[in-house]
Amino acid sequence: MRPLQCVLRAQRCLRRGPLASVSWLLLRTCRAHSSVPSSACPRPERQQEDGVWKDFSSRLATGPTFQDFLRSASVPPEKPSSPEVEDPPPYLTVDELSGRQRKVYLETYGCQMNVNDTEIAWSILQKSGYLRTSHLQEADVILLVTCSIREKAEQTIWNRLHQLKSLKSKRLRSRVPLRIGILGCMAERLKEEILNREKMVDILAGPDAYRDLPRLLAVAESGQQAANVLLSLDETYADVMPVQTNPSAASAFVSIMRGCDNMCSYCIVPFTRGRERSRPIASILEEVRKLSEQGLKEVTLLGQNVNSFRDNSEVHFNNAVSTNLSRGFSTNYKAKQGGLRFAHLLDQVSRIDPEMRIRFTSPHPKDFPDEVLQLIHERDNICKQIHLPAQSGSSRVLEAMRRGYSREAYVELIQHIRESIPGVSLSSDFIAGFCGETEEDHLQTVSLLREVQYNIGFLFAYSMRQKTRAYHRLKDNIPEEVKLRRLEELITVFREEATKANKSFVGCTQLVLVEGPSKRSAADLCGRNDGNLKVIFPDVEMEDVTDSGLRVRAQPGDYVLVKITSASSQTLKGHVLRKTTLKDSTAHC
Ligand code: 5AD
Ligand code: SF4
Repeated sequence: MRPLQCVLRAQRCLRRGPLASVSWLLLRTCRAHSSVPSSACPRPERQQEDGVWKDFSSRLATGPTFQDFLRSASVPPEKPSSPEVEDPPPYLTVDELSGRQRKVYLETYGCQMNVNDTEIAWSILQKSGYLRTSHLQEADVILLVTCSIREKAEQTIWNRLHQLKSLKSKRLRSRVPLRIGILGCMAERLKEEILNREKMVDILAGPDAYRDLPRLLAVAESGQQAANVLLSLDETYADVMPVQTNPSAASAFVSIMRGCDNMCSYCIVPFTRGRERSRPIASILEEVRKLSEQGLKEVTLLGQNVNSFRDNSEVHFNNAVSTNLSRGFSTNYKAKQGGLRFAHLLDQVSRIDPEMRIRFTSPHPKDFPDEVLQLIHERDNICKQIHLPAQSGSSRVLEAMRRGYSREAYVELIQHIRESIPGVSLSSDFIAGFCGETEEDHLQTVSLLREVQYNIGFLFAYSMRQKTRAYHRLKDNIPEEVKLRRLEELITVFREEATKANKSFVGCTQLVLVEGPSKRSAADLCGRNDGNLKVIFPDVEMEDVTDSGLRVRAQPGDYVLVKITSASSQTLKGHVLRKTTLKDSTAHC
């Protein structure tokens, strides 16, 4: 058994608490094998090859039975206390598990889920006695929260590790040794390959193993590598209140579910983040209530498939109500039934604070029943913004991607959404150059971009990922330069259409939640409208209608009305009219 596998097995024991000692022992024992070939470890197959297994079977057949064992069993008499010196406990002590004020530097890569995971990981470490630093040079522990979705994302991490190597080697002996950890999807996907390739990596923690961080770091203290990359069927970190990296931010992300069961053929996520599971509604509502009490003005419900949310934790009988999929959509998995669904959650969350905006990302187009659309339309504080990842405009490619819909069904859904939520802002993800994509398929995607005219878009060149269905069954046969050319074409068309769509806001008054100074100019402020578009406006005094017309300057977390004067594919610009509230706002066109 290789050392890492020992650790993995040990983790199963660890989950159950008191057996942590077993984990530690196994870890140490197995590390002792790290310098010998793996075939030297006592694996059952190896014993069988040597004939030892056969001998063991015959001894077992002639040996005592279970009944004999029970007969001879009796409660052992209590031992008189002896003056013998005890062995040191074979598990980590509370002191060893504590952070002892070591400073942690966290660096986040990839999607919003990783931002939220960073806050969860930090919450766990903080409770364990670690301090946080935003200065790399001060750090005793550097943790990278990583992404595996495309090859490029992983390459960025490898490059970063090379930079960190010199930091580690130049570390003064007078300081505690620097520990480096890889967290998240890349730890899950590559497992021991990272430890073997980069010996300077001390710990690995997959997306479901953040509770184990204090232990992994304690093991690393003794100079050993430690890993936990077990995926869980039920871990949602429901009881961990994330600690926001920016405590003065007006908005926060709240994780409502993890993992994905969709198995789109190009996607690594189901393999790195595991099976879909939803967080119990009660704990989500509690977190949103706390954020509202702290004065936050916007919450984004987060998950790989937010609108597939299904909380079965409080359901005592299966009501067998089958799931309403969007018309013309299907799933790759067996239909799921019962539980409290996304519409119920959205309703409850939006009732907590009428001054708090609610968004959600990222949904799957298959799970948009009418009740969700109606709720978005009716509730003032649910943003009229829907992310509807299309991935391709060609039904042939969509089938190869196993997305569960055709172009026609997708377009019909867009029409239905636009009828149900007038003025809705739409965004999407697209992949250029998927396996077997012809020029005709590509033109179909171009035409979908023209037809829908999205406000916001995320476009990527296809990157083949091991383990996925596409890796096993399809050929990554579109040359890199063709993928990039098609991607450029999609970006150009998306920008042209988004500029047209965004220009329709010119002359309108938009309700903007202020985020802070604009990155480009200190004289300007930046915020977002209901559709999640960035709005830039000069930082000048304005009337505060919430405070008897006082003259004030806008602050982060304020709602202000901005008259839009110009638009591009990415931003709106305008001038501020007055400070207001979400309820009393009179945003109009
Ligand atoms: N290559 C390129 N893009 C991908 N995405 C997911 N997997 C891949 C891949 N292998 C894109 C999809 C998804 C977004 C989060 O990332 O568009 O919606
Ligand atoms: Fe990946 Fe598809 Fe799941 Fe999105 S829905 S995370 S693209 S498998």
